[in-house]
Order: sequence, then structure tokens, then C-alpha cells
Amino acid sequence: MLWSLVSSLIKHSSVSHTIVTPQYVLSPRIIGKCSDQLLCRRQQNNWKQSKQIRHQLNNQLGNSNQSGNMANIDNIRISVIQPEDRQRVLDFLRIHYYCEEPLTVGREPKQQDPADEEFNLSNINHGTCLMAINTETESIVGAVLAGPKGPDEAEHLFEEAAAEGQSKWGIILKFLAGVERDANVFQRYGVQKALHAHVLGVDGEMRGKNIGGRLMSELMRLGKKLGYEILTADCTSYYSARLCERLGWECINAAYYADYVDDVNKKPVFVVQPPHDCCRTFAQRL
Ligand code: COA
Repeated sequence: MLWSLVSSLIKHSSVSHTIVTPQYVLSPRIIGKCSDQLLCRRQQNNWKQSKQIRHQLNNQLGNSNQSGNMANIDNIRISVIQPEDRQRVLDFLRIHYYCEEPLTVGREPKQQDPADEEFNLSNINHGTCLMAINTETESIVGAVLAGPKGPDEAEHLFEEAAAEGQSKWGIILKFLAGVERDANVFQRYGVQKALHAHVLGVDGEMRGKNIGGRLMSELMRLGKKLGYEILTADCTSYYSARLCERLGWECINAAYYADYVDDVNKKPVFVVQPPHDCCRTFAQRL
């Protein structure tokens, strides 16, 4: 229902749906391409257009998830997400994360799989998820959902993906399993216990104010306190990758969407619009 509302708003907006040029084999390109710095005018335009869409969406939803756009960024509190926050975190992510996250919107149907939501929210139980709250309105303006992983993570993800089959979540899991295998974090850093950030979303009206950076920095502190050796993130978005670069995290892998093609028809599995072109994996020792 939410997605049909978004689709109709997108249809009536001027956001273009560019198809990326297909290329052929899956070959993760490591490190060299990790520091592309290209912020073209088109991205800025897309951002403005998607801001308009979110604004309309919020209005049509009866302002149910408005953050108070005038919030002073000093009036932001970061706190650990508790099990009782689950529904409001989900409501927030449906508006400010899933509608834009490149893997989700890069594949039809554009709506997220319920299993995807279920998996991401299950991380709340680990006490390793954070939200940014506007202290004037007590509404959520950002969230990062993270959870533990061990050296068998890639194997585990491939098994989960096989069990899910051709569902949208199964297809995303298979891609992420390959990314996990290629990033090879545990051998690369000689660690046993990692914290992995699965989701990072900031209120569309509050972007570019370092709320994402504050959430990630706070997650580093929390992870360290809880005894994790390293924090990792698969940045499927150009913007989250810039954010991790700015934090000084190490980029250890890049999996290009145009290279990740279907075995049968050789077309890209995810059709993602620029400026997003790959999933970059970042790591930071704690
Ligand atoms: N369009 C254009 N620029 C954007 C942007 C957007 N949608 N979102 C962030 N930026 C820019 C900021 O201006 C900033 O640029 P700078 O490095 O030149 O200063 C940079 O990206 C990082 O901004 P920052 O303030 O640190 O992050 P943020 O709080 O704006 O949040 C995301 C970044 C990725 C969390 C946010 O864009 C988001 O929620 N996106 C939708 C969900 C998503 O794709 N999540 C990431 C999946 S891994």
C-alpha cells in the first residue's frame, strides 16, 4: 500500500528511471575504485526531487512520521533502539530508507520483501541498533541497525539465500553473500567477532547534517564497549559510502551492479540509478 503511494508519487514527479548499461561478468574491483569523488548536478537534482516526493508522502500519510524539519541539529539525541521501538522504527524505515535503498529499488517489485524487514528489525534484540531522535518532537530522524557476525557469515548467507530461493530477499541475500565472501573481513583483519551495520537511514529532510555520521560514530563506541573487534558496512548507496570514507574507514571491496548479471539472460540483477554504481564494503577496527 505504502509502495503504491510512493509509485504513484514517483510516476507524477519528474524523476527519471535511467537504465544502466549492462556489462558482463561478476568481478569485484577492489580498492582502486573506492574513492571516486563525483558529485554531479544531476544527483543534486534527484535529491531535490526525492525530497519533494517524501514531503508529499508525509503529507498524504497525515504527517504520521514527520520529524519537524526545522529541528536544530544540536537537538538530536542518539539512543539504543529498544524492542518496544520496533514499530516506529519500521514506520521510519519504510519512508526514509526502503524507498531509496539501491538494492530495494533496483529490482522489481520495488517494494521491500517482508522477510527483509523482519531480518533487519531482528537486530534490535542484540542491543546494537541506534536511533537519532529530535528532542523537540521526540520523532526519529535517523537509524542504524547492526548485528553480530562471525567468520562463517558468507557461508551462512549463501545457505539462507538458497533457502529463500528466487524471492526478492533471496536474491538480495545471494548478492550480499558474495560481497561478504569477497570482502573476506575475518581473514583480512585476523578477527573473530564483528559488528555489521545492515541499515542506515536518515530523514530525507535532514540529510547532509552528519546525522548518519553521528550514528556510525556512536555505533563504533557501542561496538567497542560490547567487545566487538571490528565494525563493517556494505554501503549500497553512493552517499553512505562517502560518509564512511569521511569517517576514515577502510574500503576493502567494491561490487559493481552492472557486473552482477543474471546467469541466464546476462542482464544486471539490480538496475540501479546513478550516482549509485556499486556496493562498497568498509571496515573499521574498534
Ligand atoms: N542526495 C545527495 N547528497 C546526499 C544525500 C542525498 N540523498 N544524502 C546525503 N548526501 C550527501 C551529504 O550532503 C554529504 O555530502 P558531503 O560528504 O559532501 O558533505 C554526504 O552525502 C554524507 O552526508 P551525511 O550528513 O554524512 O549523511 P546523511 O546523514 O545525510 O545520511 C544516508 C546519509 C546514506 C544515510 C542518507 O542519504 C539516506 O538515508 N539514504 C537513503 C537510504 C540509503 O540508501 N541508505 C544507505 C544504504 S547502505
